[in-house]
Amino acid sequence: MKQSVILQLKNITKTYTNRQTSGLNNFNTVVLDNISLTLEHGELLGLLGPSGCGKTTLLRIIAGFEPISQGTVEIAGKVVCNNYDSLAAEKRNTGMVFQDYALFPHLTVKENIAFGLKNQHKNQKKLSNHQIKQRVGEVLELVGLIGLEKRYPHQLSGGQQQRISLARALAPQPTLILLDEPLSNLDVQVRHRLRSEIRSILKAAGTSAIFVTHDREEALAISDKIAVMRNGKLEQVGTPEEIYLNPASRFVAEFVTQANFLPASRENQFWVTEIGKVEISKTNYAQKSNSRENALDEHGDMMLRQEDIILVPDLSSAIVIRERQFLGREYHYCVETASGKRLHARSNLNNAITIGTKVNLSLANSSPRIFPVSSLAEKESLAAIS
Ligand SMILES: Nc1ncnc2c1ncn2[C@@H]1O[C@H](COP(=O)(O)OP(=O)(O)O)[C@@H](O)[C@H]1O
Ligand SMILES: [Mg+2]
Repeated sequence: MKQSVILQLKNITKTYTNRQTSGLNNFNTVVLDNISLTLEHGELLGLLGPSGCGKTTLLRIIAGFEPISQGTVEIAGKVVCNNYDSLAAEKRNTGMVFQDYALFPHLTVKENIAFGLKNQHKNQKKLSNHQIKQRVGEVLELVGLIGLEKRYPHQLSGGQQQRISLARALAPQPTLILLDEPLSNLDVQVRHRLRSEIRSILKAAGTSAIFVTHDREEALAISDKIAVMRNGKLEQVGTPEEIYLNPASRFVAEFVTQANFLPASRENQFWVTEIGKVEISKTNYAQKSNSRENALDEHGDMMLRQEDIILVPDLSSAIVIRERQFLGREYHYCVETASGKRLHARSNLNNAITIGTKVNLSLANSSPRIFPVSSLAEKESLAAIS
């Protein structure tokens, strides 16, 4: 019977000790901080976060290439590492796909894919040459590259090499496939095409997978569920829609939703901003992460999604269009408010407004989200990602 939970991470912490060449002042850097996560059978999880937040380290811990400092990793119901013990990488039945493809240059496509099948762990049943040939054919068909068996990696495009590397990972039918920024080396057209292909291939194979990326659009397009990471911590786990529409933190709202924020103050039954006011009953208040109270603060920041801002020309307004970019399917505007704050808006091509026009802003979304005012330290760290 198939396990419904394929991967369970419990309180994973990873610390590196930085040894000083002079003196005894070694210091520890926490790169993963108490990460807990569950992946169901057949699910495709996007692990999304800025460069350096710990994504590769987490993937290497799951694969068994990196020891943990604390916590437990369970794959298909079996503990593969905890504070005391760790199962070797080759016994974990996971497949890896890397950014740089990592194909063997001196082996043909067929030999690259067969490599993992010939070198299966000794506990696994040894396959006959006929079975290996059959399995190579099956995965080549799955990735749509039948006919390229005899080529060497240098005779393939980047996109083809990455599909071969996915076929090689899928061939031994692993419990879990781990993909570390697999599309980052490809040009934008191939990247867009391959992200939907990879999703279809993984779904057709019925494999559970973790797809690491720092690209928000890629994560939204490919994942069943997204885990957003920041500085070694999980900020939010949810469906792409939940993450985009209801970001749980200011970081997720800026990194994934790319939303604008405007200072807002509470005044009777309204939240008042410099572009207008919204009834409190129609807003959605995000609680401070370290607070149990549900009480509303006097001040907050109103989140305005770019696509929710409607620009309406009005000669008496103090808001001015400063920039307009034509993006093919839509315009991207940058407007400046009376206080000098710049907001970004997107609108369809029917609404072309020239630079310098004075506009009023209204909101398509009837329930904007209010976030607690962020501390100075948080503002600085948010500025680093935008
Ligand atoms: N072997 C190591 N020793 C010390 N620090 C490391 C080591 N490997 C990674 N790090 C640090 O851990 C952090 C997370 O790295 P990484 O997991 O590669 O991030 P990501 O994949 O999200 O870009 C980084 O700050 C990196 O410098
Ligand atoms: Mg990485």
